[in-house]
Amino acid sequence: MNRRTEQQRDRIGAQVLVCTNDRDSEYACCADVGADEVVAAVKSWLRDRNAFWSPIAVIETACLGLCSEDGTAIAIQPRDEWYSDVTPADVPDLLEREFGPEAESIDERAVGGGVP
Ligand code: FES
Repeated sequence: MNRRTEQQRDRIGAQVLVCTNDRDSEYACCADVGADEVVAAVKSWLRDRNAFWSPIAVIETACLGLCSEDGTAIAIQPRDEWYSDVTPADVPDLLEREFGPEAESIDERAVGGGVP
């Protein structure tokens, strides 16, 4: 086992967790309401700003507890920001709100930079 916390803290300023949970159930799940398209939109927005993975990681997750018939759930960590009902069309505004138009507002809130 290798503890690699410092390496990751240096590399990753934030994590965008996108629920892609699929369930065979009567209840809504993100996989049924466009989660794959939301993940693609998140990655595309970050890639266009050269911010994909370093410094902003994208993680597909299981249920975040914000299930909806109207869109996908996203959490931004370590900021403790949570969104539900996200559609691909919402992604640019959501990410711009969090990280600025060019994904420039990362370092001051980065994990390694010391989150208050
Ligand atoms: S299935 Fe995505 S938040 Fe529950």
